[in-house]
Amino acid sequence: MPRSCILPGATIGIFGGGQLGRMTAMAAREMGYRSRVVDPDPGCAARFSVEEHIVAAFDDVDAAARLAAGSDVVTLEIEKIALACLDRARRDVPVRPSSAALSLIQDRAAQKSFLSKAGLPVGPFAVATNEAELEQALASLGGRCFVKAARGGYDGRGQAQTTSPSDAASAWRELAAETCVVEQALAIEGELSVMVARSPSGEIAVYPPALNHHVERVLAWSVLPAPVEPALGEQALEIARAVASALEVEGLLCIELFVVGGALLVNELAPRPHNSYHASVLASETSQFEQCVRAVCDLPLGSVQTTRPAAIYNLLGDDWLGGAPPNFERALELAGVRLHLYGKSVARPGRKMGHLSASAGTPMQAVELVKRAKALLTGR
Ligand SMILES: Nc1ncnc2c1ncn2[C@@H]1O[C@H](COP(=O)(O)OP(=O)(O)O)[C@@H](O)[C@H]1O
Ligand SMILES: [Mg+2]
Repeated sequence: MPRSCILPGATIGIFGGGQLGRMTAMAAREMGYRSRVVDPDPGCAARFSVEEHIVAAFDDVDAAARLAAGSDVVTLEIEKIALACLDRARRDVPVRPSSAALSLIQDRAAQKSFLSKAGLPVGPFAVATNEAELEQALASLGGRCFVKAARGGYDGRGQAQTTSPSDAASAWRELAAETCVVEQALAIEGELSVMVARSPSGEIAVYPPALNHHVERVLAWSVLPAPVEPALGEQALEIARAVASALEVEGLLCIELFVVGGALLVNELAPRPHNSYHASVLASETSQFEQCVRAVCDLPLGSVQTTRPAAIYNLLGDDWLGGAPPNFERALELAGVRLHLYGKSVARPGRKMGHLSASAGTPMQAVELVKRAKALLTGR
């Protein structure tokens, strides 16, 4: 398909004004674009990085119309946008990713079924729409399971872990969801992710995989490129390309993968910049945020070449609430360590407040550096 570039000087509308929207807006501004966001939180992270912050809910169709009226293209940084808002914006300007892609990704059950039907590797799972079905699913999957609400979960929220079919009632009550995906608890050896950019004209760029370490189901640190066997890395890229092509996504798509028994299984998808690629700002010739701008504006995609391995360590609200305030000065004493704060004024447990990043000669040296910086920052 021929390109239809949206050139610098244009305005990018973003549904969501969290840190991903903020960092996309900053990359956009660097390239000469303007941006506007819709976000219900008057204090949202992106508020000072954009031309306009429309304070409105993610299902406010009038706000979507306002966003589109002042933008040349619309994208998103969070999945929980009402499809009606994307459809409304689409009447006036291109919306990337499309509401069809978002609709599939918003529903874990539809997403898992899509992946499995497309022949992509996923772990054993079942879909449950009531307590009896959940009990049955737990029995057939062996009891030790992750039960995930089909809609709305993130950072491990909207999930329950079970050890036997008799946990069905409590898990069903706890999640209070219409539909759940029931997944066998896997003996995970590692977690990878792959970021793909796909432009409306069909160009695809696939970043090297990132290696991700989660603590209590929340990303703690991430490093790019993942220090894995080349064959496994290549397999991850193949899977990512296959998913992006099957979904025909426009913009970014991050594919989360589990390593189980030395093989890869797809965990979940995100059609936007992703926490596990923050290291691309230091490690890659093109950051994920610049790549997002290029992809949604149908510009030529940037090089995904790694210039130097880099890692990030997330800073959570807990690091603000645990007693002594975060000791930024000490963390920044370490040569090469950088601090990224998202401008959130209120710290809450589990809330992502910022991250530390560093590059080094090897991926694991970069991880060691951000771990040391994190320890100095929190005194733990
Ligand atoms: N089936 C599973 N087996 C083992 N660990 C899992 C499973 N599903 C999720 N996890 C763990 O929980 C984390 C968060 O789950 P995920 O499905 O990615 O939801 P979220 O949307 O919260 O990121 C994963 O990165 C992984 O560490
Ligand atoms: Mg996840």
